[in-house]
Amino acid sequence: MRNLIRYIFITLLVFSFLNSNSQEWVVADDIASIQNPSPYTLQNVNKGKELYLKNCKSCHGDAGKNNALPLVPIPPDVTSAQMHANSEGALFHKITAGRGTMPQFETSISEDDRWRIVNYIMNFNPANEPLLVDAPKINAKLLGSVNEAEKKVEVLAEFQDKDGIYKKLANTPVFINSKKTFGKIKIGQATTDENGRAVYQIPETVVGDAEGKIDIIISMEDNYTVNELLLENAKVCAPNVAENLFDEAVLWGTNDRLQPWLLVSYLAIAVGAWLAIFYVVFQIVKIKRLGKE
Ligand code: HEC
Repeated sequence: MRNLIRYIFITLLVFSFLNSNSQEWVVADDIASIQNPSPYTLQNVNKGKELYLKNCKSCHGDAGKNNALPLVPIPPDVTSAQMHANSEGALFHKITAGRGTMPQFETSISEDDRWRIVNYIMNFNPANEPLLVDAPKINAKLLGSVNEAEKKVEVLAEFQDKDGIYKKLANTPVFINSKKTFGKIKIGQATTDENGRAVYQIPETVVGDAEGKIDIIISMEDNYTVNELLLENAKVCAPNVAENLFDEAVLWGTNDRLQPWLLVSYLAIAVGAWLAIFYVVFQIVKIKRLGKE
């Protein structure tokens, strides 16, 4: 009996040892041969990249930098030969199921998104045309005007081609922002048509100053070098008037809304409080003096 227990114990120990050291992570053929239903497009690769940066980069590191966390075994770089020895089906299975320190993502990332992460990894497969390329920045120019009657912003975007000539920039997003004391806040965006023109309707929810004016800044995506366009004092919002002065936080929300009677009563209370304090101090001093006599 004792020998049997010892035998089972040793067998288990040996098996667990072998298991933890088996570097090869093999996936059954029928799973590995599943095709990726998500097409290999820039949009899917970009979505996969976003998910990778959020869920995987902390362990696997940046693509091509070999800066993974030193775990055992080391999480392979997404550009590595080890990663690309996997079929798309095998990658999907490994991301879904996990193993050891590599977590499973079956419950936290949807099936569609797991396939998009596979799309992203496949961007670095030597057999594929890479879709993510670090293109140099393009010089662009923005012109714009405000149509106050229709509460619209009209933008004309141009880019500089390789001969240095400015041409119409079609199908490109431009961002409409509201200028704030520090920086800007995005209101919305519009896409240029084939003539490089974009029209943006200012939503009614945007709040201006007392006269309904805002300063608008037009900007572009990071891959363009462009001087942001400032359109000052655009009267495209409803005037910002306080409707009921007794609404919470309206009364003294900003200094220009301050009511005279409110200021007077505040000062009266403050002065009264100080007088009371002085009176008490004065009395204490008086008691001390009387005690000395
Ligand atoms: C907590 C750290 C960690 C996170 C987070 C993580 N991994 Fe891993 N990953 C590992 C480790 C460790 C391995 C090696 C596992 C093994 O071989 O037993 C691994 C292995 C893999 C493999 C198999 C590579 C091979 O050898 O075939 C793939 C594919 C993979 N990870 C993809 C991902 C993706 C995609 C994500 C994000 C959705 C991710 N991993 C998130 C740690 C991590």
